[in-house]
Amino acid sequence: MPRPTHITINLGALKHNARVARSLSDDKKMMAAVKANAYGHGLSACAHALAPVMDAFAVAVCEEATELREMGIKQPILILEGPFDLDDCHTIIKNKCWTVIHSFEQIELLEGLSASDKLALADSLWLKLDTGMHRLGIAISDITTALSRLRSLGIDTPTLVTHLANAERQDSSLNLEQLKKWREVTQGLSMPTSLLNSAGLIHHLSSECDWHRLGYMLYGGSAAARMDITPLLPVMAMNSEVMALRSIPAGDSVGYGGRWTAERDSMIATIAVGYGDGYPRTARNGTPVYIDGQICPLVGRVSMDMITVDVTDHASVRVGSAAQLWGDKVSVDTVAEHAQTIGYELLTRLPDRIPRQLIDEA
Ligand SMILES: Cc1ncc(COP(=O)(O)O)c(C=O)c1O
Repeated sequence: MPRPTHITINLGALKHNARVARSLSDDKKMMAAVKANAYGHGLSACAHALAPVMDAFAVAVCEEATELREMGIKQPILILEGPFDLDDCHTIIKNKCWTVIHSFEQIELLEGLSASDKLALADSLWLKLDTGMHRLGIAISDITTALSRLRSLGIDTPTLVTHLANAERQDSSLNLEQLKKWREVTQGLSMPTSLLNSAGLIHHLSSECDWHRLGYMLYGGSAAARMDITPLLPVMAMNSEVMALRSIPAGDSVGYGGRWTAERDSMIATIAVGYGDGYPRTARNGTPVYIDGQICPLVGRVSMDMITVDVTDHASVRVGSAAQLWGDKVSVDTVAEHAQTIGYELLTRLPDRIPRQLIDEA
């Protein structure tokens, strides 16, 4: 019997979530964010499953776009960080990609291209505006200059794009400030626009845009409070089994550093998964683990290859009982919350050693 620890990727759930996104998107176009290996879910399988439903794809960097083209993806691909150098510009042109331009340094790169390369990029540019997140984008006060420099390159109607810093919080005043600036800038310009990510769409933060850029919701993550009424399905599940079981007396401690001490005589199940498999080492005592049909609390520090769980109240647990670390029984966001991080991080930092299985069930 091989080590039972594995991940399942449910492409049926991915397609279901894309249909939910479509139903929320009205007549807007949808772009699937598949950067960072499709948020850890596997680029090729996810891109092919999403291709029939999505209008375009978004990646962070040129290399990811090249991978998508080599896999046979034909839709437009937007590069969210844009070119770092002239080689990137040539890769973008060769792969017939779209690119974000977020700075005057990048406009300067475009100015260094040949006339035919400039022409090739004319309909592919997305100009990023900094409406308040202060991470990337042209300052509002510099937009006229940026647009006029693009115009002299033959780029008259870039798609305008911005990113909201706090879309997860529907009531955030930062959203209101960013949306106000966005409206002021875009209303006077007749150019296509792109504004919302998953949480922004779920929270209906605005309908003033042509393109949604959606990532986390496609994978079934609940970055927004309204997920309880948005029927998304988790695409990834992390599974393992109980590999050892022992009873310990009250007063004994468990695991490295003896971080947890039993207050009563206890039954401790050891599960074959650890931070070497991508389970977060920072998970606190009490992080929920689903074992043999029950939610049980993690106790003791997460090791590289194992965790320990208090199953005292669940007499049916045996060596070989199935355990789900995250998936449909325990959401990755809940585990992340117990580990002081976000689900995005857990999903995107899975190591190669954990085997993967693709399924297609909705
Ligand atoms: C610029 C930009 N747009 C869209 C997205 C997609 O966001 P989400 O995965 O929350 O839908 C991201 C994700 O990091 C992003 O950086």
